[in-house]
Amino acid sequence: MICIPIVGPTMDRARKDLDACQQLADIIELRLDLIENCDLPLLLKEAGKPCIVTNRCKMDGGQFAGTEEERVDILRQAIDLGADYIDIETSTPGPLLKSILENKGSVKVILSHHDFTRTPDDLNPLYDLMSQLPADILKIITYATDINDNLALFRLLARAKKDEKQMIAFCMGEKGEVSRILTVQQGGWLTFGSLETGKESAPGQIPAKTLKHVYRVNDLKPESKMYGVIGDPVSKSMGYLIHNKAFQETGLPHVYVPLLVQNVSRFFSAFEPYLGGLSVTMPHKEAIMKPLSHIDPAAGRIGAVNTVVRNGNGWAGYNTDYSGALKALEPHGPLKDKNVLIIGAGGTAKAIGQSVVDEGAHLTLTYNRNKEKAQELADQLKANLISIRDVDQATVDFVINCSPVGMAPNTNDTPFPARLLKPGMVVFDSVYNPMETRLLKDAQAAGCATVSGVELFVHQAAGQFELWTGKTAPIDLMRQVVEEKLSPKE
Ligand SMILES: NC(=O)c1ccc[n+]([C@@H]2O[C@H](COP(=O)([O-])OP(=O)(O)OC[C@H]3O[C@@H](n4cnc5c(N)ncnc54)[C@H](OP(=O)(O)O)[C@@H]3O)[C@@H](O)[C@H]2O)c1
Repeated sequence: MICIPIVGPTMDRARKDLDACQQLADIIELRLDLIENCDLPLLLKEAGKPCIVTNRCKMDGGQFAGTEEERVDILRQAIDLGADYIDIETSTPGPLLKSILENKGSVKVILSHHDFTRTPDDLNPLYDLMSQLPADILKIITYATDINDNLALFRLLARAKKDEKQMIAFCMGEKGEVSRILTVQQGGWLTFGSLETGKESAPGQIPAKTLKHVYRVNDLKPESKMYGVIGDPVSKSMGYLIHNKAFQETGLPHVYVPLLVQNVSRFFSAFEPYLGGLSVTMPHKEAIMKPLSHIDPAAGRIGAVNTVVRNGNGWAGYNTDYSGALKALEPHGPLKDKNVLIIGAGGTAKAIGQSVVDEGAHLTLTYNRNKEKAQELADQLKANLISIRDVDQATVDFVINCSPVGMAPNTNDTPFPARLLKPGMVVFDSVYNPMETRLLKDAQAAGCATVSGVELFVHQAAGQFELWTGKTAPIDLMRQVVEEKLSPKE
């Protein structure tokens, strides 16, 4: 179930938001502490869904400013009004908590505990203590300071399932997103989603629309496998849009989540039993190779893995930037004996450079500021190295930009002078934001064929999907998702 909190701040706003969340929410939480001059009877009447009434004190992350007696009195009113659920904190003074638990009538009580700073290693003592009270649902929410904290909550959910107890459990914060997404699949009673960005009632809350339609949290099955991208940062990654759509389109029950990881080995050894496969982004493409039992030869030559695939009892690493670049270039004929010029000497240049060299192209790398780094890559790829000032257009068939030059917000910049472009050249820009870079516009104007960074992105993602699932990737749909996301908004 997805629960949308109604956070005011006015009665008028709360009523409008109740109306707006009807299509998305399975259940609603009325956060009385966040709604000024709250008219509880009216909100309960207009809710249109089962309601949890919550009146959070400051210590538990709320805004209620009165005394504890006053706070609990309002919960009593909710019981008298016949609310479906009330939420009361374990931190409530004993006699007040007892009076609620002993006089709750037919209202179900959620007994909650929040830790806004960390996730204790062992949550069992807290669970034991809370289990002794006659509440209907236990709620333990902690803050993830490390991605592995989420697993403590998964373990708690497994225990609650065994004990046949209803439980709400996940982590807050950016590192807690994975447990917000997977808690229902792991046996949790509900997850919270904001009505829209800016209406979160706790850190790391994901929009309900994304939970429902992108992650499909209500449709995940016990057999659904977890895929995801590990990196730091991962908040800008588009992988969750493209891969979840591909799983949905191909009838697979799996889910793909962002995983903000700092320590790769620690993450991998703890999460491995939960994983179906991984995408790997900066800065972990080298570190991830260590725990893998097999490295694809091309990924080995590049020295970087961007895809992790289950391989019998072990794990294999691949580089789909390598294969994706070749797919993106495929419509422009074989690369054998063609002269390819690459701008940039980072991770993308390494993967694409290796791919074109393996296809038999003659590779030249250019530098314009850091010759040493470019020289290192040129030596590794057995490529020529020249200054960008010394490029002779007559000797170039393909220009591939593997630098970030031209990326938003610097969309007027280009890594390659327009005067060096000529008809018949193929110009491939790995930058995909904007989709049509200044380099690609100049290239079209000069009569060159062009390949956008979107093609690289889509083909490397399609390669990952195919390695994970053995199914053909719905590539047109994947491209559509990326183009929609990158299209300038009005
Ligand atoms: N389409 C896709 O799927 C996809 C995937 C990955 C990356 N990309 C694009 O590729 C770009 C590079 O990614 P990466 O992972 O290879 O990054 P990276 O490892 O940081 O390498 C960037 C390279 O570009 C050079 N560079 C940076 N600013 C420059 C400038 N102003 N003029 C000339 N060279 C400059 C850097 O040289 P220095 O050593 O001098 O800094 C470095 O060699 C990204 O920005 C992204 O837009 C696209």
